[in-house]
Amino acid sequence: MSLRPLSLALLLLAPALLRAADPTLHEALVAVRADKAGDPAVARVLQGLASAHGTPLYVYDQAHIRGQVASLKAAFAPRFPKLRVLYALKANTNPSIIGLLKGEGLGAEVVSLGEIEWALRTGYKGSEIMFTSSSKNPAELRRAIALGAVLNVDSLDELGQVRDEARRQKKQARISFRVNPGVDPHTIHQINTGITESKFGLHLQDGIALRAYEQAKAMPEIRIEGLHCHIGSQITETEGYTLTAKKMLAFVKELKDKLGLRLAFVDLGGGLGIPYKDGQAVMSPEDLARALEPIWKEGVAAAGYEPTLWLEPGRFFVGGSGFVLVRVNTVKQTPVKTFVNVDAGFNTLMRPILYQAYHRVRVLGKSADPVTVDIAGDVCETGDILAEARTLPRAAAGDLLAILDAGAYGFSMASEYNSRPMPAELLVDGNRVRVIRRRGGFGDIFRNTGK
Ligand code: LLP
Repeated sequence: MSLRPLSLALLLLAPALLRAADPTLHEALVAVRADKAGDPAVARVLQGLASAHGTPLYVYDQAHIRGQVASLKAAFAPRFPKLRVLYALKANTNPSIIGLLKGEGLGAEVVSLGEIEWALRTGYKGSEIMFTSSSKNPAELRRAIALGAVLNVDSLDELGQVRDEARRQKKQARISFRVNPGVDPHTIHQINTGITESKFGLHLQDGIALRAYEQAKAMPEIRIEGLHCHIGSQITETEGYTLTAKKMLAFVKELKDKLGLRLAFVDLGGGLGIPYKDGQAVMSPEDLARALEPIWKEGVAAAGYEPTLWLEPGRFFVGGSGFVLVRVNTVKQTPVKTFVNVDAGFNTLMRPILYQAYHRVRVLGKSADPVTVDIAGDVCETGDILAEARTLPRAAAGDLLAILDAGAYGFSMASEYNSRPMPAELLVDGNRVRVIRRRGGFGDIFRNTGK
């Protein structure tokens, strides 16, 4: 698929729709976040987008993404002069978003052959890619080794497979091991990855990870480059990271003392949380960098050398940038509650049904007559509730709602369930908007079936 026609589709909002004093698209999105969606001018601007591009519609604010990158760099770069930041592509795999983050100097953390290919198509070199997965298939191993990517090895079984494939290719495979530090960062259970019972990583416990490094060191086909962990996602407090960093740095010292290994990098993973609720306080990059700094300094002093610190967030960069615009089909009052039925469901945004995740919802252009409603999706399942028991200005059929913080794990987890084509994705830059993925069509739904 060529993306050229899309990248050329630079659309200016039809001037007829706008008035001189109207906010820019970026300003309108900021206003929606700031709970000013009731403002008629804000609503008018976003209604223009919805009319031009249809609903459900993913809209991302480029300035937000750049701001997030800048805040992470501002917090970490002065404290950690040897720093490399990667973007975890799975959060949002739209190539224009990946390209934006590549332009900010971030590396690529990928989890599948498909994500490897996206990284390559957006201009990454194989050597800039870090490939993490607890279950890599033979084609993935082959491709990653051939490209010179870093394979983040997750088991001894995989280590043997990497060695065999590297031998076949007459290459040295670059690896790190993902370790399981046995730390609970207190987040949603399904995305809590560093706890002892999770499927991820080689446990530090019982010398398992140490033995993995020992075996790898003896393999001429393997080049050990680093050490990796990722303890979970949507982490809002520093404690999980600080406990983990202590364990990781103690292990760095152990690797040097017992095996004579000096690592090029230590990757503390992604996982930085974002606020999903109005007024929610979450750890900032500044909080995290400040908490990690003394532990890192002490750890590298003890180890006698300083590896590069790698971080690989996804959600933090893109989560807050994304909005889903949805249209109200009907409003229904039952003896129990009021449902606002919209034209998107868990096929469009899966996080609420999958994790009982909370996403703010704003009614555009309305601010009066608050009522408590459930925002119900259009998927034929009882559980398809996008937002539960929200007190919002009364909405009516045809009204537009914005679902917030959908930039990460929104479109990338969406599906065509119920035979609904995938939504379009737009990227807003000031008052300009670019279609970065056209809306899907029935041809997409019927593809590969011979019908
Ligand atoms: N590195 C590794 C190895 C990961 O597994 C992940 C995410 C990341 C980095 C990026 O994590 P982040 O910075 O985005 O938290 N679908 C879930 C989140 C799953 C995260 C999976 N791994 C959600 O919607 O909340």
